[in-house]
Amino acid sequence: MAVATATEQPGSKHNVQLARKAYYDKISKFHMTPLWEVLKDLVTPEPKTACQSALWKFSDVKRLMLEAGDVISAEEAERRVLVLENPGERGKSRITNSLFAGIQLILPGEIADVHRHSASAIRFVLEGEGAYTAVEGEKAMMSHGDFIITANWAPHDHGNPGQQPVMWLDVLDLPTIIHFETSFAEHFDEKMQKTNHENGDSFERYASGVLPDGAPVTLNRSPVINYPYAKMRPILERLKNTGDVDKRHGARVRYANPINGGPVLPTMGAYLGLLPKGFAGAPYRSTDGTIFACAEGHGTTIVDGKPIEWGVNDVFVIPPWKRYQHNAASEAVLFSISDRPAQEALGLWREGN
Ligand SMILES: [Fe+2]
Repeated sequence: MAVATATEQPGSKHNVQLARKAYYDKISKFHMTPLWEVLKDLVTPEPKTACQSALWKFSDVKRLMLEAGDVISAEEAERRVLVLENPGERGKSRITNSLFAGIQLILPGEIADVHRHSASAIRFVLEGEGAYTAVEGEKAMMSHGDFIITANWAPHDHGNPGQQPVMWLDVLDLPTIIHFETSFAEHFDEKMQKTNHENGDSFERYASGVLPDGAPVTLNRSPVINYPYAKMRPILERLKNTGDVDKRHGARVRYANPINGGPVLPTMGAYLGLLPKGFAGAPYRSTDGTIFACAEGHGTTIVDGKPIEWGVNDVFVIPPWKRYQHNAASEAVLFSISDRPAQEALGLWREGN
């Protein structure tokens, strides 16, 4: 004897789901998909990110980096770099969605051949003396805290004629270039470029309050190759001494393009800030995920309630729109870099507390 079963009523929840699924399958064959199923994830009321805050202690970085010196030569590697990968974005060679960061090591006697690429790069020197970065015919001798820029398509090579291993933080806008699918690169026949300017020439020439007569009046990246720490650090001291201390960022300078006062590169902007001893910063957040490197001292940055304890040469990253707050037990100096200029150029950048 047949058993009566409840029949689905037209318009029941189950039937609606089946009808939608059939419809989605049908339109999928035409490479279409319903916006209403994904709208909430696309148009969010606040930024959503897979990036996490993270810290790379220099004691670990240095030990592991020096081991890489035994494993591969600079020549074989082309660039002996360990990528700092965001733990929320493993396998993507990025520290934020838009920026690449790595630690580069060059041992005494090594060179890293001259090449150029669409990605712009900066170096922030962590440890060691005696190495150089040559950019567009000028050699920048690298010392702790120096900030060196390699603009889009600028030929550059590195060498270490000194006696010590030299390590620095590389930051490139590589994920941005990959996003736009605009990557070009080329190598040169010679291993090292010929220099035709004195070391430090571009800083003296462009960053002394005058410009060479006839210098361009528009240039979207700085002509200065190296902003030496020895020149920047006393400015922080001046700001501190006159009480020009931002309640969130400390006594901070922005690395500027002397042609137009804008950022050093169109895709990346950097700062150097001094946190006075005992500094307890006000909370801050901004849409530019930011990479920090400690040049001096030590302190704690609270990110969404979680502490990051940093010291000299440690690197840490704050994801976009995560609230953070710096505390400095001793006087400390933090370098920071982000994609803020790119966001500002597109009218997207926001900050808050
Ligand atoms: Fe390069």
